[in-house]
Formats: sequence, structure tokens, C-alpha cells
Amino acid sequence: MTTLAIHNARIIDPELNLDGIVDIVLVDGRIARVGPNEAEMVIDAERIDATGLVVSAGFVDLHCHLREPGFEYKETIATGTAAAARGGFTTVCAMPNTSPPMDSQASIESLLRQIEQSAQVRVLPIGCITVGRQGDELAPAGELVDSGVVALSDDGDAVADAALMQAALSYSSLFNLPVSQHAEDPSLVSDGQMHEGWVSTRLGLRGRPSSAEEIFVARDIALAELTGGHLHIAHVSTAGSVALIAAAKARGVNVTAEVTPHHLTLTHELVAFDGNYKDIRYDASAKVNPPLRVDSDLEALGIGIRDGIIDAIATDHAPHSLSDKEIEFDLAAPGISMLETAFALTMTRVHDGTFPLGTLIRSLTSAPVRAWDLDKRTGLSGLGTLAPGAPADLVIFDPDMEWTVDVGDFRSKGKNTPLEGRTLKGKVLVTISEGEIMHADSLVAGRLRLTDRNEGI
Ligand code: DOR
Repeated sequence: MTTLAIHNARIIDPELNLDGIVDIVLVDGRIARVGPNEAEMVIDAERIDATGLVVSAGFVDLHCHLREPGFEYKETIATGTAAAARGGFTTVCAMPNTSPPMDSQASIESLLRQIEQSAQVRVLPIGCITVGRQGDELAPAGELVDSGVVALSDDGDAVADAALMQAALSYSSLFNLPVSQHAEDPSLVSDGQMHEGWVSTRLGLRGRPSSAEEIFVARDIALAELTGGHLHIAHVSTAGSVALIAAAKARGVNVTAEVTPHHLTLTHELVAFDGNYKDIRYDASAKVNPPLRVDSDLEALGIGIRDGIIDAIATDHAPHSLSDKEIEFDLAAPGISMLETAFALTMTRVHDGTFPLGTLIRSLTSAPVRAWDLDKRTGLSGLGTLAPGAPADLVIFDPDMEWTVDVGDFRSKGKNTPLEGRTLKGKVLVTISEGEIMHADSLVAGRLRLTDRNEGI
């Protein structure tokens, strides 16, 4: 029996209505007890004194790209899940835009074997909506469900054909499976490089208008309403989308949504300017689809999280190699390596008073689990919470510790971030997955007498 006892932490679990300084005891990979003085009662335990720190359930990411198979030069399951652990994530859902794409039982089965061999945290596969992600014909949803996918998505590309999307949502209601849509109308964003606005005009780059997203959000909500299927809107980025989702939820449509840390905190100006308006640049590290938008969108997205209109914060971790990014802006791949900065970046909106810490924790833990029924799909009751019997997936963090982003420290192969050199406030210090310490920051490893299993990878 392995026992880990964490003393004196501020333990926050909005799902259990818990916010207090108590102990938590983990036995054999499960949460055993949470309460005052619980840690003192156990003998033969490994111990962590977490005085002054916060403990929550491990973070759950509905949207990341691990790139394996096919793009191992960008990321692998081993490096992506090491990055997840460093970022506080203990469950990640992997997008299917791999090579081959995850559109068959055979591809999912071989992915699951690779996950079994090299994942450091739980990885749940997402299957394709259409064969080869080509948007022409539906992938075999029943076969994919039987193989263990937790959702369907053609992320990176929208399902443009309305009749096909309607069919996908009809299957969704049959199989009770979320369909995660990358909502951008291809006819409005073709060759678009960044948000369509004054910065794109200044840089002379073709834009991706907010309407491209909102048209598809509106269309797909109508199709979800018609079919009863579960529509999930990936990486919501505009105020108009938030309003559409709020209205749909109020009507009882089966729709859920996620926002990324970057869409919650960064604007299109970052592509061209670095803190002053004197010099312009073309910074491909801030190129992402959908693009970074404007302040009024950030405001609406923050309210969306505060009010539960947007269910989850998801990273859209999109690692790319240097050669994918350090080229002409038009040719650079879109995406930001996000797992290792997601928590601290989103803490910006807690520190500026947009939403409380408990809301952030809920959006990173129980809310994504609930949005996709991940506890039922995995058979892991209590996933995303600290309830006794739940998997012992935990994160220990300091909400106020400042640190400076240094891609040299990233576990991810993807060093593509516009945050390099930026000081953020809020640091993940320890990540525990099924009772095992998968990450211990060097700042506390000594104090907590822990070693980081990834040191030096
Ligand atoms: O910027 C993005 N990059 N957006 C997506 O939807 C896909 C992702 C990727 O796979 O790189």
C-alpha cells in the first residue's frame, strides 16, 4: 500500500463546496480522506507539507495536440504529457489531426498502445468526425466509440458542409458523444492570417473575421437543436459566440463550450507590437486559429467563464517546430504551445478580478469532466474532484508566485509561445497523477523532499 499525506494545504474543490486549510490523504492511487488533521493519523506515509500552498484536483484539458503519430518532430505522447504534468494537467484529450488521422478503430487502438507505453498522465483520444478529416464523408462513429474515443472533432478544420454536420450531430445523439467543432467558416478565412481588424490592415495581412466563427456557431447550434446532438464549440474567441451560446443554453440546447488561456488574455496587437507602438513586427508565435481577438472579446469571454456560459478552459496546446514557425508569417503554422503556461496565464483573469480562483479551478477540473461526462466514459467516478474514492489526481500551486517564462525549461518540444520572457503570477509546483508525483518544481522539490522524474529530459 502506498500512502501520500499532504499537510496544511488550502484545499479548494468547488464541486465539494470545499475551501479550507485541511489535510488530504492518498492511498493506492485514490483519494482516501480529506479533512482536519487527517494526515497526522496515518503512519508509514510519504509526506508533503503544503503550508501556504493551494491544492486542487488535477486539471483536465479537453483540447490538446500531442502530434503522435506522424509529427513526432513537433511533440510526442511522452513529451506532451510531461508538459501536461508540468502544467498541472492530469487528464488530457488528444486531438485527432495526426498522421494517420484518428478515423478508424485500428488507428485508435495503436494510439492507445502508444499511450499505455509512454504517457505520463491520462490521455483520452478524440476521433475524427470525417474520414481523413477531409470533410466529405462521416468517419465510422460507432466503431470509434467502441474503441474508446471520448469525442469527435476535425479540429484545425471546420466541418463546412451543413448536411454532414447535421448527420454528425444525429450520430452524436445516437451514441451520446460530443462533437467538438472548430467553428470558422473556411470560405471566410481562406488565406486569413490573423484577426481581421486594424492590426491586420496595418500589417497588410489577410484577416479572419469574427463573423466566420459566429456564422458557424449559429449554424451548428441550429443543427444541434434540430438533432438533439451534443455540440461542443472548441476555442470560442468572440463576444458574439458567447452571446449565441448563452442564448442556446437558455433554450436548453445540448451545447457546451471551451475557451483557451490565450483567447482569454491576449489580443491581436501582440502579433505586431511588443509593449510599444513604435516598431512593428510580424510575430508568428502569436499566430493561432482562431486568431487572438480584441479587448471587448476578452471581456465577454471572461464573463462567459464567470457565469458558466463557457464550461471549460482548454489549452489547445499546439506545439510546432522552430522551422514551422520561424518563416514568413503567411507560411508559419498556427498554434501556441500552451500546456506549461495555461494555469499562470489564466490566473491573470483571477488577479484582475474577472472571476474568483474557485471558478478558475472549476473550469479546469469538474466542469470539463461534466461537459463531456468523462467520469462515466472512463469509469472513473469522482474524476475532476477530490471526493474520497476519486483518482488521486492533484495539483499543488502557489497562486501568487511570480516566474518568468523560459522556453528552455519547457518539457514540450514546442517552444512556440508569445510569452517567452514574460513574468506571470501563479505557479504549478507539484502534480500528482493517480497517487504518483509526476512533476515537482525545483523551487519546492528540496523543501518537499521530492525529485522531479522529468529532470533533464
Ligand atoms: O492554431 C491552431 N493550431 N488551431 C487549431 O485549431 C489547430 C492547431 C494545430 O493543430 O496546430
